[in-house]
Amino acid sequence: MHLAQFLVHGPTYHSLAMWRHPKTAAASAERGFAWDRPELYQHIARVCERGLFDTVFFADLNYIADTYTSSIGPALRNATQAPEHDPIPLLSFMAAVTKRIGVASTFSVSHSHPFYAARLWATLDHLTRGRAGWNVVTSINSNQAANYGEERQPADARYDRAHEFMEVCRRLWESWDEDAVVMDREAAVFADPAKVRRIEYEGRFFRSRGPLNVTRTPQNGPAIFQAGTSPKGRDFAAKYADAIFAIQPRAVDAAAYFASIKGRMSDLGRDPDECRILFGMQPIIGATEAEARERQEEHNGLVPVEGGMAILSAHLDFDLAGIPLDAIMAERTEPELYRMRTRFHKQDGTPMTVAEVAARHGQSVSLPQFVGTPAGIADQMEAFMAEVGGDGFMLSAIHSPGAIEEFVDLVVPELQRRGLYRTEYRGRTQREILRQAD
Ligand SMILES: Cc1cc2nc3c(=O)[nH]c(=O)nc-3n(C[C@H](O)[C@H](O)[C@H](O)COP(=O)(O)O)c2cc1C
Repeated sequence: MHLAQFLVHGPTYHSLAMWRHPKTAAASAERGFAWDRPELYQHIARVCERGLFDTVFFADLNYIADTYTSSIGPALRNATQAPEHDPIPLLSFMAAVTKRIGVASTFSVSHSHPFYAARLWATLDHLTRGRAGWNVVTSINSNQAANYGEERQPADARYDRAHEFMEVCRRLWESWDEDAVVMDREAAVFADPAKVRRIEYEGRFFRSRGPLNVTRTPQNGPAIFQAGTSPKGRDFAAKYADAIFAIQPRAVDAAAYFASIKGRMSDLGRDPDECRILFGMQPIIGATEAEARERQEEHNGLVPVEGGMAILSAHLDFDLAGIPLDAIMAERTEPELYRMRTRFHKQDGTPMTVAEVAARHGQSVSLPQFVGTPAGIADQMEAFMAEVGGDGFMLSAIHSPGAIEEFVDLVVPELQRRGLYRTEYRGRTQREILRQAD
């Protein structure tokens, strides 16, 4: 079972309660941790490495949403993944205090040139000695497009451009042979010009001459993460990804998603184990079952309705203010709602109202909450994996710091006792650790 930790460089992750949670407040008062200081993320990286996680992984959005009611008020009042500072500088801070764990971040291909991205990620791969991971997203949000002076692009165009973006990056990463740097001081030759090439790329969307001005990196570019859900997004992930972050609240839908990606990989001639699919999950741990339920209730009660509506509207890129709160979400025909349709049912399959979906989205962005004692949570993880087929989980905390430590100290040993989880790292690079068989 592979585990990764989901993070945002901001006051909330998937839980809008996080910034208000008494344990977040206490940790910041007692231990001096604050969401906008690197010390918090260095602490988290160390804890996750102690838990032998594959990766610490950052989402990244480039907007404060005004999707709900056309106002930035709801996003600001509720900290709906806003503010969100740039996570990439944190990767260097976190890598500096760890040795093995991967450090991954989202970076959109929608607003920059591939030369810039190839250079940035090659540099990070060097600085981390092969532990860098890039979550390649094509941004769909109109707020984000507007911040870059652009219009939101339709899915086909986004992914056509993204394929070309990756193609240019790959060629740039390969524009230096592994042994191009000879460093012959006597002969006055730093790099062998025969081993460094221009790429002369002329495509539909991009042109780049190359070569990259960064030497060949430990992983030959970073490990690639992806999170697309549409058929085009799945094709893209199946082609390039070393790992996928997926949100599927119900195991039955997770199983279908898992099979569809692994099937696409086989069709492309890739070994399905070359890409790990990590399903989002929010653990809520108690010493007893009753205490865990109390913690869940306390947490979920801290999310105002307005916050849930604002973040769900932002993620759908569609203002839900015009739909009655008691309408059944799965019965709506607005095309914008289609992409998230597997998130509109309860665990038992009951269809949810707009208010219910929004409340859950504010609590966990529809990640399933696994609630119980450490053994109970291990049971739920085991059952989910058994139904889905693999590969592991992307964990999201309900308060920070504190929740991640509890998981590492209490649930990880339980998973290890059951033989479900590794007891040591075996790979050196991010890609090798993702491929580790246990
Ligand atoms: C689990 C998950 C996490 C995502 N995280 C981000 C993110 O951090 N930043 C971002 O710009 N887009 C993010 N996205 C958006 C996707 O990368 C993609 O742009 C979006 O899902 C639209 O592509 P699709 O049509 O293939 O679904 C995420 C999507 C999913 C499903």
